[in-house]
Amino acid sequence: MIGLRERFGRPLRLGLIGGGPDAWIGRMHRGAAEMDGWWRPVAGVFSSDAARSRSSGAAMGFDPRRSYGDVDEMLRQERLRPDGIDAVAIMTPNDTHYRFAVAALDAGLDVVGDKPVTHDFREACDLVARTRRGGRIYAVAHGYSAYPMTRYARRLVRDGVLGPVRLVQVEYIQSGMATRVEEGPRNNRFRWILDPQRSGLALVMSAIGCHAQHLASFASGLGVARVVADVGALVPGRKVVDYVSALLEFDGGARGTFTVTQAAAGGENDIRLRIYGDKGMLDWWHREPSYLRLALQGEAARIIGRSDAFLPPEIIAAGRSPRGHPEGLREAFANIYAEVAQDRMARNLGEPVPELLYPRIEDGAHTMAFIEACVASHATRAWVDVAGLPAQ
Ligand SMILES: NC(=O)c1ccc[n+]([C@@H]2O[C@H](COP(=O)([O-])OP(=O)(O)OC[C@H]3O[C@@H](n4cnc5c(N)ncnc54)[C@H](O)[C@@H]3O)[C@@H](O)[C@H]2O)c1
Repeated sequence: MIGLRERFGRPLRLGLIGGGPDAWIGRMHRGAAEMDGWWRPVAGVFSSDAARSRSSGAAMGFDPRRSYGDVDEMLRQERLRPDGIDAVAIMTPNDTHYRFAVAALDAGLDVVGDKPVTHDFREACDLVARTRRGGRIYAVAHGYSAYPMTRYARRLVRDGVLGPVRLVQVEYIQSGMATRVEEGPRNNRFRWILDPQRSGLALVMSAIGCHAQHLASFASGLGVARVVADVGALVPGRKVVDYVSALLEFDGGARGTFTVTQAAAGGENDIRLRIYGDKGMLDWWHREPSYLRLALQGEAARIIGRSDAFLPPEIIAAGRSPRGHPEGLREAFANIYAEVAQDRMARNLGEPVPELLYPRIEDGAHTMAFIEACVASHATRAWVDVAGLPAQ
């Protein structure tokens, strides 16, 4: 990959979909895309209201001529430009992801899409098929699996340091819905989040459960085969799902526990992963994301820090500053953007593409199957198999 950007000759050009001035995650995407110079966000659609979209783009420093009124207009106009966009990043409310992704893929563009990738597994399989058919790239913004230390966790598991995986415990606890937010004033975010038609099959799964499952599968290297789940609300009388707990069985038979909620008072934002093999365990949590605890049976436990000199070069390279200097979600997102760019540039140059760990649409589809299985399990009170991707 050395010199790849120079051989390609320019940064890739990104069109944003969503991420207006008041949005939460848009800022993260924009900053991450630009962080290492692989991308330039040059165009966008920033609101469902055409006039607001145009004025928001200009207010955020985009060329007013490339601050479009809607997605179709952006795709149409950008195609006419010699310096048109190479890809889109989708960070709009959940119910819009599928149609914007279809439009972008059909226009021959790559996609960095936010989660959940679609409303259901069927739509996700369709995106897998379109991505493959068009030879496109479709990355999913699962930032937690792009931290140096979660990547090192995966590496340790793959290298057999823990021995065969026996148990995976993952939890993602938040407190944003611990109070009756549905009775308070509705800002734009809460308007779509509290509408189950717009936020997805089970709100907490679309919001954070997808990250937890993806992280568990990424680091353990194991897909989820079967679940039995409790899907509901911790806040009495609440109509949307703010809590899911599940027992998991992974491919190959490892067991798992999974708990996610947005209604744990005081919980703030806390994702934690523990993986136990027959030789030892590792423990990562988001409050201290630059550190990983490795405890092998019978040995003193070790705290491994991002950029420790003995780490593999690709793990050190996934950080940008020496140990002790905080890095966070934006840097993790930047790792995804960097790898997507490397993939695209290498493919276009006809160069070999090394193993790149960014989350893909196939992962997003597995997550949708997992969410559907959890919902079905709750309805039947039984173990439910997680559907596999159809052969394509
Ligand atoms: N990957 C992560 O860690 C992470 C974190 C938070 C949110 N998200 C996801 O990102 C998405 C956005 O979440 P958010 O919390 O930033 O929401 P938000 O409501 O704060 O922002 C949504 C933005 O999309 C714009 N928008 C709405 N409809 C649009 C349309 N039709 N065309 C163009 N722009 C439109 C809005 O104007 C706003 O700027 C959701 O899918 C959410 O699940 C991901």
